[in-house]
Amino acid sequence: MSEKVHIFDTTLRDGEQVPGCQLTTAEKIEIARELEGLGVDIIEAGFPISSPGDFKSVVEISRSVSNPVICALARAVKGDIECAAESLRYAKRKRIHTGLGSSDIHIQHKFNSTREKILEQGVAAVKYARSFVEDVEFYAEDAGRADLDFLCQLVEAVIAAGATVVNIPDSTGYCLPHQYGAKIKYVFDHVPNVHKATISVHCHNDLGLATANSIEGLANGARQVEVTMNGVGERAGNTSLEEIVMILKTHKTLNLHTDLNSKLIYPTSLLVSERMRMPVQANKAIVGRNAFSHSSGIHQDGFLKHAETYEIINPNDVGVPSSSIVLTARSGRHALRHRLEIIGYVFSKEELDDMYKLFIALADVKKLVTDDDLQALVSEAYPVKECTKK
Ligand code: KIV
Ligand code: ZN
Repeated sequence: MSEKVHIFDTTLRDGEQVPGCQLTTAEKIEIARELEGLGVDIIEAGFPISSPGDFKSVVEISRSVSNPVICALARAVKGDIECAAESLRYAKRKRIHTGLGSSDIHIQHKFNSTREKILEQGVAAVKYARSFVEDVEFYAEDAGRADLDFLCQLVEAVIAAGATVVNIPDSTGYCLPHQYGAKIKYVFDHVPNVHKATISVHCHNDLGLATANSIEGLANGARQVEVTMNGVGERAGNTSLEEIVMILKTHKTLNLHTDLNSKLIYPTSLLVSERMRMPVQANKAIVGRNAFSHSSGIHQDGFLKHAETYEIINPNDVGVPSSSIVLTARSGRHALRHRLEIIGYVFSKEELDDMYKLFIALADVKKLVTDDDLQALVSEAYPVKECTKK
């Protein structure tokens, strides 16, 4: 039977760290409500110690949203944990996400510490967080580059201290998918109490591998994935929510599912892009402007004969109203006839050949030929042609 993967959305924390993407409290509440509608399981609402504004946002999101668990980030220090606990006071279901660096690079250069001290600090942080809330997630920052046996020791110790979820982040987006998958498997094989907690994957996209790495982590036993809408996040971003949800929906052989209503993906993507003032790249998987648009003649011909020739996802499944046929100098007669019919003109084969020559001449100079351009071509070449749309 298919197993559930919990979706931990960090658009409002890791996503909001992006320069220029800062949100007001009102905007964060609006996005949190949209994420609740979409069906995410956990919303990481912010890093309350970082600023009074972020603290206030976590408080207000906790008041405004009921179904998802509301999570607040805290470094493994008392002040952060107390602040996170206070910011969550109105949350119906609450989680503190605390942790610290686990790779030797972080231990030596960021903390000037030792593995032993990091282990102690992690355990103390989890115990302290558990004195405020029942649900505590521990993050082993830069686990992607951490020594495997130390990572396992740390995971075992924080689970024994009461962590309910353990996050194994590839904070720098360093790992290859098979390496990250093997890391998660190693944790499952070498941590005796691993089944007392949920293992979470949190991947960054520095090498464009965040989604692939997250999927490998899930395939090797993780049951929570940390994502952002549109893949926004530090540097090259985080694993994108829309990609994970649609990969699990498309590839049933993974035997994993989420409880999200995928039809709300596109409206949520638009809202996040607008509020963060962060345009989505046109060729972004699932939510980019070109994700369901066909422009070359070969593809258009196949798509018009049978959509599945070039579409593995029905656009309606993610809330995109329809696929589109874009007319460029690479388009063929089939696409031209299709668009002409949409605007109300039916041409014989000979007339269409004639129109096609005119269209290609225009497309070579105009790049994108719109319905208005087509209308102008028809009016000039066939001024008395009957239009069924008038
Ligand atoms: O990338 C990372 O390691 C993080 C942690 C704070 C969870 O964002
Ligand atoms: Zn991160």
